[in-house]
Amino acid sequence: MSLPPFFSERDGAIWLEDIELKAVCDQLGTPTYVYSRAAIEAAMSSYIRALGDHPGMICYAVKANSNLAVLQVLAKLGAGFDIVSGGELARVLAAGGSADRIVFSGVAKKPSEMRAALQAGIHCFNVESVAELQVLASVAQELGLEAPVSLRVNPDVDAKTHPYISTGLAENKFGISMDEAFDTYTLAHQTAGLRVIGIDCHIGSQLTELAPFADALDRVLALVDKLADAGITLEHVDAGGGLGVRYKSETPPDISDYVAALKGPLADRGLSLMLEPGRSIVANAGVLLMQVDFLKETEKHNFALVDAAMNDMLRPALYQAWMDIRPIQASAAKAKPWNVVGPVCETGDFLGKDRELAIEAGDRLALFGAGAYGFVMASNYNTRGRAAEVLVEGNRMHVVRKRETVEELFANESLITES
Ligand code: LLP
Repeated sequence: MSLPPFFSERDGAIWLEDIELKAVCDQLGTPTYVYSRAAIEAAMSSYIRALGDHPGMICYAVKANSNLAVLQVLAKLGAGFDIVSGGELARVLAAGGSADRIVFSGVAKKPSEMRAALQAGIHCFNVESVAELQVLASVAQELGLEAPVSLRVNPDVDAKTHPYISTGLAENKFGISMDEAFDTYTLAHQTAGLRVIGIDCHIGSQLTELAPFADALDRVLALVDKLADAGITLEHVDAGGGLGVRYKSETPPDISDYVAALKGPLADRGLSLMLEPGRSIVANAGVLLMQVDFLKETEKHNFALVDAAMNDMLRPALYQAWMDIRPIQASAAKAKPWNVVGPVCETGDFLGKDRELAIEAGDRLALFGAGAYGFVMASNYNTRGRAAEVLVEGNRMHVVRKRETVEELFANESLITES
């Protein structure tokens, strides 16, 4: 398996841009997330280039990796942002993103979050139910503002991905069903405090084929045409995110083919295209570095006990995700199959199973594809501080998040006073 772009192997050692991964471990310890600025920029630039002069916006899905420096790099390239909470709104603004390039997704937004987003002047709210529409209208009216809205419809297509990250089926909690969508648009159109500007859908994540995206878009466009006939003209279609990446042997479509397939059918209708990619911008721009603390060979398995765990990287435990694991330096050890597991007290705490690795205690490993849905899903389970994060830029490494200390973990707790 070849390394993702911007990683290279030099004399048996792995580098990211012009930084040797060993240098990051030596300087900061492990576990540590490392991202490449050039890789993030290359992916975002591919989207921007693919959109070309078709009107629209590439709104990076902040949930995939919300480190301020990552958002800053993307904001500098002119990215828009797809947020799902007031917290993400605050992050984007703190990182220099502009409010009028933000879309606000999410199945349940609090009135306080709606207020903050309205006051900031975001581009659009992606609304997922009649109840949410009504609350948004009343919050906007209280503020004397108009909320720009798009309805997230659920096109009921099978994204053919892991069930936990499939969102566009009738059985999922997301979106408004196609049957109810027309009436909901009519209601939104007539409600004071709302300005209907678009439609959106998001059918799932880690999709490796174009067909489900195209199917969903067809269904969405049939509704757009029906709405236009009824006098409700939309400005944009937001096709969501979901383009998959290569973790092992997947062959997802190129960003350019994906965008071309979506913008094609919009051109004659004069609709702009919004996209909300997350994973395909950051996943392969990052690795999680860890150290092998102990090797433990049992009758059934060989365990490599590493210092990263499910609290640092949940994807293998939660989705049985396969992510490549490699030593960052060549070793003289004999290769054997290892289960790479963390120190957390759960059998589900594994990062990889049955991996053929030549390793010894003390060696460092890199888990690839870790730039998306890695650090952002980390927890403090087992009172483990969250990892440090580093952004590499050529031969410079920026520590963009310090490792969390134990004192920080209980800083908000207090002992009770014994009577
Ligand atoms: N837009 C909406 C409304 C979403 O719900 C998502 C992801 C995205 C955009 C971005 O999708 P992407 O381009 O990243 O596929 N934690 C899981 C992935 C959860 C995705 C949730 N929604 C994982 O690690 O695989």
